[in-house]
Amino acid sequence: MKNKNVIYLLSLALTGASLLAHGKTGTPLYKDPDQPIEKRIDDLVSRMTIEEKVMQLNQLTLGRNDNANNMADPVNDIPAEIGSLIYFSSNPDLRNRIQKKSMEQSRLGIPVLFGYDVIHGYRTIFPIPLAQACSWNPDLVKRACAVAAQESRMSGVDWTFSPMIDVARDGRWGRIAEGYGEDPYTNAIFGVAAVKGYQGENLAGSKNIAACLKHFAGYGASEGGRDYTYTEISRQTLWDTYLLPYEAGVKAGAATLMSSFNDISGTPATANRYLLTGILKKRWKHDGFVVSDWGAIQQLRAQGVAADRKEAACKAFTAGVEMDMMNQCYDRHLAELVQEGQVPESLLDDAVKRVLRVKFRLGLFDNPYTPASTEKERFLLPESLAIAEQLAEESAVLLKNESGILPLTGLSKIAVIGPMAKSNWHLLGSWRAQGKAEDAVTLFDGLEHEFKNQAQLTYARGCDFDGEDKSGFVEAVSLADEADALLVCLGEKAQWSGENASRSTLSLPRIQEELVMELKKTGKPVILLLSSGRPLELARLEKVSNAMLQVWQPGIAGGKPIAGILSGRINPSGKLAVTFPYATGANPHLLQRAAECASRTREVPGYYQCAVVRVCVRAQLHHVRVRRPPAFGYPGKMRRQAHYRDSGYEYGR
Ligand code: NOJ
Repeated sequence: MKNKNVIYLLSLALTGASLLAHGKTGTPLYKDPDQPIEKRIDDLVSRMTIEEKVMQLNQLTLGRNDNANNMADPVNDIPAEIGSLIYFSSNPDLRNRIQKKSMEQSRLGIPVLFGYDVIHGYRTIFPIPLAQACSWNPDLVKRACAVAAQESRMSGVDWTFSPMIDVARDGRWGRIAEGYGEDPYTNAIFGVAAVKGYQGENLAGSKNIAACLKHFAGYGASEGGRDYTYTEISRQTLWDTYLLPYEAGVKAGAATLMSSFNDISGTPATANRYLLTGILKKRWKHDGFVVSDWGAIQQLRAQGVAADRKEAACKAFTAGVEMDMMNQCYDRHLAELVQEGQVPESLLDDAVKRVLRVKFRLGLFDNPYTPASTEKERFLLPESLAIAEQLAEESAVLLKNESGILPLTGLSKIAVIGPMAKSNWHLLGSWRAQGKAEDAVTLFDGLEHEFKNQAQLTYARGCDFDGEDKSGFVEAVSLADEADALLVCLGEKAQWSGENASRSTLSLPRIQEELVMELKKTGKPVILLLSSGRPLELARLEKVSNAMLQVWQPGIAGGKPIAGILSGRINPSGKLAVTFPYATGANPHLLQRAAECASRTREVPGYYQCAVVRVCVRAQLHHVRVRRPPAFGYPGKMRRQAHYRDSGYEYGR
């Protein structure tokens, strides 16, 4: 009798609970868009098995992957329960087919979250982030990120692994191209702008995507600028230098973060509970999730803190990494770790809730599919191109303009020389997502268009980017002899910066410098156009050039804005966000320290004078201290001289 009563009461309670958990139409509560997100999450998690929970915490890849650092076996048989996929295709149909499988063939119909590296644009490629920071115009960067979000979301991507806000002070590190330079404050300001641009007012908007602050934290401190290596970071440096941008990004509402590859003074970031739980979740109250970097969980074995994949899974998960990017550690071991009691189920639930929260906020449960659209409707829209052009204009930094040689007026013949002149591919930089070389205007094409009624343009390649072949010098010199001025287009190939692309020197390859030396002998004015993904060592080139314009990797706008600066149509306004050291040996280096050192003592200004290319010092000091634009001989007012504090992005320390 007693038992019967208990059973009766239990069944009453279950009916009540299931009534509560169902909306008006009889559908489960978590599927009811009118219910608050937190209730929907709780309801859904209460229905999930351990295996289903674990699957939400795994990320695999789908589609074409042409990033040499991230090649993986194609995962043909994507499980319907998978939490997330890196989506390499730009075709929304493929995404929708996978999504349909998850919505219809998994028991609970949980949508997949599609992520992708949209670093400086999706198809409309903007200047690399390091260049963007030189615009000192976060509002413009926000608008560029909004364009990237619109193109991505309309193509089936819900989540970008961007912005990278790793403070970087060693130009040899190839990833310096992907962040906003050497200063924590600058990284914070632009990181916030990027988050706001990507995420918009409401993540569920059909043109918004979730942001991911990366790489948390201290990746930029990689020893010697070598990628993926050890970092030695004291608590003071961690807080003073590396964490500030992340705190700002979290406060701005960034949905996710990516843990970094590096070992931080003996504890890899991916197994760093202090960082991922203590600071991020407890202190900053972040309620989204952390994804590991690619293979970073299994890397814990190589970093010496885990004996095998299972221990690696345990360490990363209990430290606070919720999603496993391409490690296959969580899917193989997490359920077992929970069953053995090594990982509390409450922690598993918390992790799943964090992932689901982002999916709910993106509106994926209610609108899981990407609406059909043509490429013309989503890519390279006129307003997107205008932003790309303006950002390239404002990113270019005039490093030197001796005797006001620029802008170029009244010349009849200009020789355009150098390996960068007719390249469109290298102008896009690394991480070009779905960008295409043919979308980019070469420096030569931009110049030809700009000067068509003003001067005749001739062209010689002169030499390759590197190597020993000087056979092109003769033609270049004879062209130079005929010209009134020489535009020498030098720089780095796109693949010389970015992930796993560190260099041991900041100099351009000797062959490029030698070409300039030969051209100098003609006595004609030498104007250098420098395209690179890092600061350069320019000591020798500075001596033999009359003007130097750092154009970075300007993206698809390419030569058009650069030509406008040369003709005087555009007044250059970019200012360096990273120091150009006088010699590579001065790395790691940052201007502010050099300036402080010089201002404190008059006895050591030698260091200050010779540590940095002098023109750069002047430009930077004008901005930082005097806040006046450099008087580089351009007529009229600077087009924009606002400090980024004027743009409403101030982030108080
Ligand atoms: C590795 C890189 O470090 C990271 O920045 C990127 O987002 C992932 N691979 C995914 O491609």
